[in-house]
Parts: sequence; C-alpha cells; structure tokens
Amino acid sequence: MFDLEHNVENYFVKNNPKYLKMVLGADDVMPLWIADMDFKVAPPITEALQDIVARGVYAYEDISPQVKQAIADWNLERHDLQMKPANFIQVNGVLTAIAVILRALTEEGDGIMVQTPVYHQFFQVIKTANRTIIDSPLKIENGHYAFDFDDMERQLKSGNTKVILLCNPHNPVGRVWNREELQKLIHLANQYNVIIVSDEVHSEIVFSNSKFHSILSFEETEKHIAVLGSPAKTFGMQSIANGYIYTNNTTQFKQINSLATSMYLHQGGALSAYAILAAYTKGHTWVNDLVVYLEQTVNWIEEFLNTELPQVKMIRPEGTYQIWLDFSALDISETELKDLVFNKAKVGLALGSTFGSDYQLFMRMNIASPFVKIQRAFRQLKAAMDG
Ligand SMILES: Cc1ncc(COP(=O)(O)O)c(C=O)c1O
Repeated sequence: MFDLEHNVENYFVKNNPKYLKMVLGADDVMPLWIADMDFKVAPPITEALQDIVARGVYAYEDISPQVKQAIADWNLERHDLQMKPANFIQVNGVLTAIAVILRALTEEGDGIMVQTPVYHQFFQVIKTANRTIIDSPLKIENGHYAFDFDDMERQLKSGNTKVILLCNPHNPVGRVWNREELQKLIHLANQYNVIIVSDEVHSEIVFSNSKFHSILSFEETEKHIAVLGSPAKTFGMQSIANGYIYTNNTTQFKQINSLATSMYLHQGGALSAYAILAAYTKGHTWVNDLVVYLEQTVNWIEEFLNTELPQVKMIRPEGTYQIWLDFSALDISETELKDLVFNKAKVGLALGSTFGSDYQLFMRMNIASPFVKIQRAFRQLKAAMDG
C-alpha cells in the first residue's frame, strides 16, 4: 500500500480562494468539490518525470505509439478488451476529445442527448459547439438511478438527436452501467441511427460488486461508437493527462483525426507522455490499492449516514470517487442548504443544481482524499445539522 494518507500542500484550483468564492461563494471551506485527487501519484509516475527532468533535454519527441500500445495492453489485461493502437486519437483531455468529436461528426444545431444529473461540463461542451442539449433525465428504479428508455425513445423518435453522450461510469451518481442496460441503449441508438459517444474516464474506479463494460465490448457497435478514456481520473493526473478517442470505424476515425490534426491537437507534451506511459505500464498495484481504499471510505460513509445522519441520503456508488448526497429530506431551500454546508459546516461540495436543474437539494462530494479528512467533513456536517 502506498502513502495514500499523505495530503500535499498545494495551490490547486480546488483550494484557490478565488475559485472557491466564485463557484461556492465561500472561501474558507474544506474543498471536496472538484473531481481530482489529494493523493500523490503512483511512485513510477514521479520517477518517470524525474528521469526526464534529469535528462534536461526537451527536443521534439514522439512516444505516442508506445503510449497507445500501453493503453491497449492495460485494457486487454484489465477489461479483456482488444484495442488496436493505430485506432487511438490522442488529444489533450477528455473535454477536448468530446469537443472534437461533436464538431467532426455532427452539424451545428444537431441534438446531443445527455442523461441528467450529469457532469456539468457536458452542457458547456455541447453549447460551445453550437449543438443542442437534449436531456433525457435518469430515473430512480429499484433504489438506483436508471436510464429512462421510454423517454429516450420518445425523444429519439421526434428530435434531431445525432449523438448520445454517455457517461460510464456515471458522474455524479456513480452508476457503472451493466451489460443489459448498455445492450438496450445500443439497440436504441442503432434503431435511430445515433452515435453513442461513451465517456469512460472513470472506468478504472469500480467497486467490488460491479463490473465495468466498455461500449467497445459489444460486437454490434462497430459502426457507431467513439470511446474516450484518459489517465486523469485513474492516476490523479488531472494537470498532466491526455484524452484518448478510440473508434474501430474507419470513416469516423478519418473525420475525427483530420479535425484533431488540422488543429494540431494531437501533439501532447513529452512530460505527459512519459508520465502516462509509466502509469499504464507500472500503475496496476497502485490503482488496485486506490480502489480498495475508496471502497472502504464509501463503507464508512454509508454506515455514518445510516447511524448518525439519516437525514442525508446516498445511493451507494458502484464506481467513481464522487458521491451524490441527497439533502431533500431537510426540506429547506437551496440557499439555506448552501448556508448550512458551506458557511456552517465549512465543507465545500459541488452544487447539485450544476448537474441538472432538478437537483438543487443535492450535492456531490469528491472522496479521493485522506480518510480522516472525509470523516472530519461528515462530522462537521453533522455538527452543523445538529445545530
Ligand atoms: C465524466 C467526465 N468527463 C470528463 C472530465 C474532464 O476530463 P478532462 O479534464 O480530461 O477534460 C471529467 C472531470 O471530472 C469527468 O468527470
């Protein structure tokens, strides 16, 4: 087990008073809002970066073929997924990847379907590409979030939807979509000639009772699917990661690749490339330990909420290091909730309403933080609620 308890001092966005004030309206909170990690990266990543720095030469360099091979090897080993290194398109982040795909495969005004509550930057990336957001909200079924297939079909029938932007595992609700659900989604997409763009950035953080199924693991998807991955979330490399688009479809590949290369978006920095290579070749144990650590944290949170804070509800996440907290039983306004959580408890969570307008009484907490810090956050919440 590596030193996951170590909490580094930093000037990162999540701790920056300017951003805290701007986004949360409070700058003296324990920052658990952005989806990044407090943990130091796996030692091989730091060692790889140190080697490059020690070399001291930063001439033009391209190790992307080795990186793509390493990602393919990782996916074969961990997900039994056959990927061809030549089918990857590298850009500098997952949002960049989505922005490029939307521009390459759809026209202005086309509908892009999302399932709220969902990662808020999906709205931005669609809007700034001048495409139209089509929302098919998730529903609660048998105690967990589920796709509303009837609603999706109704909207696919009548609208101009060209892409379903899927989040798997889902941020913020923590669902890891199962095979049956994905099969049904693919069936619908095929029926209405819609491309599924599957954002799989959280795919390695999956807890013991669930299994991640990439959209690429389904045979009949070859015509429609582009898939995105990134080492950012898995290895805590948010500032030094790239995004990877993968498609087995030659036409799609050409369209996306020519747009990305025409803007020189494929040319990542060598420091990132070496770090990513180290992560995917030497990071297995670290990720395994991380997932165990996060799952233990979730166990503790579940127990604490059940016994000490039953007013706050959480549907247990199947993956990701985000938890989605439901404060609606408190029967207060969003302003009162913000006052309670930010000003009284002094805990900085992400506002539910940024993920979907119906979620004003929800908040998302990032738990990729030392366990003691998460415990402290919940005790502060309880103290504030007990008043
Ligand atoms: C589902 C999802 N996609 C994309 C991103 C951002 O990825 P990147 O920083 O590589 O653009 C995030 C970050 O939280 C995310 O949760």
